[in-house]
Amino acid sequence: MLENPQRYTVTAALIYANGPIHIGHLAGCYLPADIYVRYLRSTGKDVAFISGTDEHGVPITIKAKKEGITPQQVVDKYYGQIKQAFSDFGISFDIYSRTSNPVHRETSQDFFTNLYEKGDFDEEVTEQYFDETAGQFLADRYIVGTCPVCGNPNAYGDQCERCGTALSPTELIDPHSTLSGAKPVMRSTKNWFLPLDRMQPKIQQYVDSHPEWKTNVLGQCRSWLQEGLKPRAMTRDLDWGIPVPLPDADGKVLYVWFDAPIGYISMTKEWAAEQGRDWELYWRDDKTKLVHFIGKDNIVFHCIIFPAMLMAEGSFITADNVPANEFMNLEGDKISTSRNWAVWLHEYLEEMPGKQDVLRYVLAANAPETKDSEFTWKDFQTRNNAELVGIFGNFVNRAVVLTQKFCDNRVPVRGDLTDYDRQVLDELALFPDRIAQSIETYRFREALAHLIDLARLGNKYLAETEPWKAVKTDQVRTNTILNIALQVSANLAIVCEPFLPFTAQKLCDQLRITDRLDWQNAGRADLLVAGHELGESALLFAKIEDDEINTQIQKLLNAKRMNELETKTVPPLRDEITYDDFAKMDMRIGTITEAERVPKSDKLLKLRVDDGLGGRQILSGIAKHFAPEELIGKQVTFLANLAPRKMMGHESQGMILMAEDRNGKLALLQPGDGVWNGGTVS
Ligand code: MF3
Ligand code: ZN
Repeated sequence: MLENPQRYTVTAALIYANGPIHIGHLAGCYLPADIYVRYLRSTGKDVAFISGTDEHGVPITIKAKKEGITPQQVVDKYYGQIKQAFSDFGISFDIYSRTSNPVHRETSQDFFTNLYEKGDFDEEVTEQYFDETAGQFLADRYIVGTCPVCGNPNAYGDQCERCGTALSPTELIDPHSTLSGAKPVMRSTKNWFLPLDRMQPKIQQYVDSHPEWKTNVLGQCRSWLQEGLKPRAMTRDLDWGIPVPLPDADGKVLYVWFDAPIGYISMTKEWAAEQGRDWELYWRDDKTKLVHFIGKDNIVFHCIIFPAMLMAEGSFITADNVPANEFMNLEGDKISTSRNWAVWLHEYLEEMPGKQDVLRYVLAANAPETKDSEFTWKDFQTRNNAELVGIFGNFVNRAVVLTQKFCDNRVPVRGDLTDYDRQVLDELALFPDRIAQSIETYRFREALAHLIDLARLGNKYLAETEPWKAVKTDQVRTNTILNIALQVSANLAIVCEPFLPFTAQKLCDQLRITDRLDWQNAGRADLLVAGHELGESALLFAKIEDDEINTQIQKLLNAKRMNELETKTVPPLRDEITYDDFAKMDMRIGTITEAERVPKSDKLLKLRVDDGLGGRQILSGIAKHFAPEELIGKQVTFLANLAPRKMMGHESQGMILMAEDRNGKLALLQPGDGVWNGGTVS
């Protein structure tokens, strides 16, 4: 661990630009990164906070295929959306760029060329699956087959999503291409491999030198190292990506996990150029602390492969820490883009305008730091109402409003202190370091709990000193109490800013603090001088009512229902029949004139149908779908020449035809206007 760094390079994963972002992304990576960076800035540190979109790789081409647009259109569409969502939630990147930028292409090609020229790659010809119909090599994701472990018939070439086993395409039983459906053939191709096997000792040493890393991170690193690292191809036979800068590499691109992390470097270059700074200090000076914020699915790339690339190159620093988070679940289920089981940031903002900090708060409080965690709307409501409104907001509001009322909206003079006053001020002084300590060790949930404890301290102080009573007899005492309460409020503004930047701003407006919030000042009892006039009071947080939460829950339930419908498979076609077979069926139109339940049956309805021939009785197993009375008067289609049969003692002379609607409910097959009873269907 680097002691006393001179500057910080903080990166947040370059998310694939293939879809909008949801709460899982925020909780897992971007919010902790933002809290960390805002804190560092508040302590006056030199920080570069770097992120952007990852615009290469198979996830982009898969999305393009699905949407019927080009990969370029996919990344152009989502880059803007993603960038906007982060900015709306106050994620304070110094730069948010993209890996399709020219600087990045050049930087990653140079990086590759450099390793190539030093002889760091092994050139290898291997057999890869090739789709002869589509005329291209198949990325692992483009091959599906049966999982050799669990028998899932839809396992991908890199992973079985049912049992989680990591696979290689050659392990799949009965593989086929998702591009054409064809059975792929083996074809040889040359690629450039990073010899991770030979680099293992250096990487082992690197990981071993960081016993302070989080256990979930070390756990994954050790298991990879234990298995023994294998050479990994840094080039791919694909048509979407950065061309391999070699003469004999037509149709080959850099492996996306080669180019993407180099994006951190190229984006730093872009930022430094804009700012007139020297990018190299942020990547080459060993007094720079490099921290990668990521989700758990990125651990091996950031802790093993990227460091290996950097070490091979030789002129860069490696990460001091990689505080990866686990995943956040939603209402008891894994967040899933394809199943629309997510809370999308852009939708949240539309439906809960101005409540960015509430989401930041709840996500940080439940961040999946050591294990998978859970977001529920009920918890969201409870935390808002009990903690943000009930403790934080309530305290600040009382301090400000009472000052308005009793002290002419000016910070009153503090008189003699009681023991309790002193005790509260002493406690106040301890909070900033306590919070800082938690942030610096990447324990953001704990840091947030300390923050609320500080608000709690203030709340309790007012409850016990009761300035609204004191004012009746003792203005000097009232002044002292409110002075202290305002000092605590001003401290809250400083220490809440990394977590709740919008709230910090509101709080500063109310206290009319115009200076930059400086963490070094936190803990002091003289942040606001006597006589300083306050601004206008306003509630920091609003109560969230049941119906708002219920709307959100309902929305999720709808998503679940839509999914179940969509996954309902269309049944396979039945055996072919001849026209004569068809013509044997006498289908007709009739009107239901009577309908009643059949006693002792929960399925059967006894219907009288006007068939234009004097009427007939038909028994139908639809009692669970229709109330008898709603059927009367409806025109229906029925099979008229089905041999009569007895059901529960009643004769049925035909069959009513039904179709299933989207909800699995039965629907009558009704003709349009003008068809008379007895009319035939053909
Ligand atoms: N695009 C990857 C993902 O979304 C993350 C890439 S992070 C970087 O999982 F290292 F490549 F930048
Ligand atoms: Zn499996």
